[in-house]
Parts: sequence; structure tokens; C-alpha cells
Amino acid sequence: MRDILPPESGRWRHFTDVFADVVERAGYGQLITPLLEDLGVFTRIGDATDVVTKEMYDFVDKGRRHIALRPEMTASVCRAFAEHRPTTPWKVFYAGSNFRYEKPQRGRYRQFDQVGVEVLGADDPNLDVEIIALAWEFYARLGLRQVALIVNSLGEPDDRSRYVDALRDHFVACGDALSEQSRATLDRNPLRVLDSKRSVDQPHIASAPRIADFHSDDAAAHFDAVLVGLRALDIPFTIEPKLVRGLDYYRRTIFEFQGGTLDSAQNALGGGGRYDGLVEALGGPPTPGIGFALGLERTLLACDDEGVFAPAPTPLAAFVVDVTGGLEAVSLTAELRRAGLAVDRGYDNRSMKAQMKLANRSGAAFALIVGDDELSNGNVIVKPMQGGEQVVVARSEISAYLTALSDQN
Ligand code: HAM
Repeated sequence: MRDILPPESGRWRHFTDVFADVVERAGYGQLITPLLEDLGVFTRIGDATDVVTKEMYDFVDKGRRHIALRPEMTASVCRAFAEHRPTTPWKVFYAGSNFRYEKPQRGRYRQFDQVGVEVLGADDPNLDVEIIALAWEFYARLGLRQVALIVNSLGEPDDRSRYVDALRDHFVACGDALSEQSRATLDRNPLRVLDSKRSVDQPHIASAPRIADFHSDDAAAHFDAVLVGLRALDIPFTIEPKLVRGLDYYRRTIFEFQGGTLDSAQNALGGGGRYDGLVEALGGPPTPGIGFALGLERTLLACDDEGVFAPAPTPLAAFVVDVTGGLEAVSLTAELRRAGLAVDRGYDNRSMKAQMKLANRSGAAFALIVGDDELSNGNVIVKPMQGGEQVVVARSEISAYLTALSDQN
């Protein structure tokens, strides 16, 4: 878990602001849920999911409730839907921290942030297209270019379970030729064997049955309609039959966004898909759902690699250097901030030299200097920090003067 210091923290906020801007324009409203929930909310994600079985931060609270910090937000959204029963389609977005007890490395943290959307109560394949297009638009707004969209369909739950049986048979027949790790995975979740990156597993994965051969007519038609919509929007994609995603709740459309500059083990910038059964399992009516979550840290690493979306500290209009005791700086900064200007100041009545050094370091466009003469004459010295002549401005005019200068820039 990490501390995020300024100016990086400002970049985080900007990241969520841009995301909110993109999705609010499409009718999504922000949902804020608690950071922790009853453990049962998350166990509904599925017992073949590592996130649930191995990585949860759970504990018994003082009221003897078994609680867990959220490892993701989809389950919380479904819990909130089941509890509040809003009208459908319910289109929400979220931003916040999640917790998974994973082995930390670059791009993988125990506390990490996501932004995401979920829509509950609509089955339309055009919604799948809208959802994917929103993430695509967001990456474009950040300036990221090396993002690849991969898509697949897991079919209906029945298709999926027939496929899982076929996969199990296939991999069991491979016997010891399969890596030890994949044999262990096979016991719990045959689908996840397809995720193996080990070279000994590759020939067996290549010869494994394909999910598309198990799609029902409805599932195939739904997937085709999604692909048609993506082509209509000129969103490039690759169909990846081996894409299964790590959470158990998915059905039909699933997708992932991969960053071209990141290590392949951590290259998923975000992902999502359709799910069903979650709302029902949490006490609500049968309700189809779809959504995605995008990892903030990984996406920012990709931005660094591509040299886009750099952290930008708020530019200061002025830095007040008051060497008359500091009270003048109190009223001057308050007045200028009220006028909408970003203004900082020196403290502790330090020397002119020390305060000018701070003014320089602050990146402010102007130093506003108040000495004994200026105080008694009702003036302020305005010194441009990037060079140029300093001028004396009447104290009563300073706010209008600086506002006019900032408007020019
Ligand atoms: P997920 O694939 O588990 O999906 O996570 C989505 C994204 O969160 C990942 O692609 C990655 O960028 C980021 N992420 C996950 N774990 C970590 C970690 N330990 N450190 C840093 N980043 C991480 C979900 O969470 C689903 N709830 C997505 C979804 C929404 N499906 C439907 N609706």
C-alpha cells in the first residue's frame, strides 16, 4: 500500500474527473458504496475466484460481524441495487480503492484504485457496445494510444458449463504433460488454465475446445450484434477465444483493455463484461448486468510510458512575500483567493531572501512584495518571476490588476 503525494495525487483526482466527465455525458450517475461489506457480499462473486478465496482482507468486527474490505466494486453495486431497487436501467459509475492480498509488484498493489461503470436491468447488445465505447473514449481523452481491446463471449451459463466440462475432459486427458500449477488450477476452475503463460501448457491450450463451438444461438447472435456495433464505431478489437477473465460471475460478452507498453503479466488496464445471478444472489430480482473497471495505477503507468497525461500542479498566480510581520499577507492572500486567484505565501516572518526563494520554487507567475514602505504607502510591489520589470501597484487595485493579467494568459 502506498502514499500518493502531490503533485501525483492531483493527477489521480484529474483522472477521476475526466472519467466522470466521459460517463456523466452518457447518463451515468455516481454511486458511492462503503469500503467494506459483509463478507457474504463478496463470496457471491464465486468460490473459484482467487480474489475471493485467497486475496480478501476480512476480519470479525466488534459486533461479531464477518466483514471484508472490498476487492472490487461490482458486487457492492449489485448489493446496493438489491437493497434500494431503483428503476432500470440503472446506470452508475464509481471511483475508489479496492483491496486484494496479492504479491505486490509494479502494477499490482494491495490497495489499488479503480474507476468503472455498471448498468443493471438491460440485455441489449448495444449497451455492451456503449460500455466498451465509453472506456475507449476515456483512454482517448487521457491521450493513450497503445491500448488493445480484446473481446470474447462466454455464452449463456449453460453453454459455459458445457464448455467447462469439455475443457476439464481435455486437460485431464493431458495428464502430467500439463504444468503442476495448471493441474492445481484445473481442479478449481478449468477456464483459468487457459490463462496459463507457462510454455509447457501452450500446446494443450492451443488444442483445447473453443468456446464459440458451445455458444447457443442466442449467445452467438448477441455477440455478433456487439461486434457489428463496435465496427460501426470504428473501435478496433481482436476476438480472443482464450480470454476468460478472473471472476466467476461473467456470461456472454467479456472484454479486456491491454496496454502495449506494460509487462504481459500486468498489462490489463481494465476489463469487464456481462454478468447475471449476482443481484439475485444478493436478494434482488433476476437482473442482467454489465460493466467494467479500469485500474488507475496501471493506466497511469501506461500514461508515463507513453508520455501523456503528465501530473500538472495547479499553477499559482502569485506568491506573497510579506516582511512586515505577516498580517498583511493574511488579508492579501484571502482577498486574492476570494477573487478566484491561486495564491500562496511565506510564513514565519522569514527574511526577504528566504521568502523570495520560496516564491521562486512555488512556480508562481508573480511575487507580491510588501515591505515597511509599501505597508505605510498602501502599495504592493509586483515582481514577475520569469524576468521583466517590477511595478508598484496600489493595494486597493491589486486584485483587479492580477485578475486582468491572469485573464490575458
Ligand atoms: P478485474 O479484472 O479484477 O475486474 O480488475 C479490473 C482492473 O483493475 C484490472 O484490469 C487492473 O487494471 C486493475 N487491478 C486489479 N487488481 C489490481 C491490483 N492488485 N493492483 C493494481 N491494479 C489492479 C474487476 O474488478 C471487475 N469488477 C470488473 C467488472 C465490472 N466487471 C463487470 N463490471
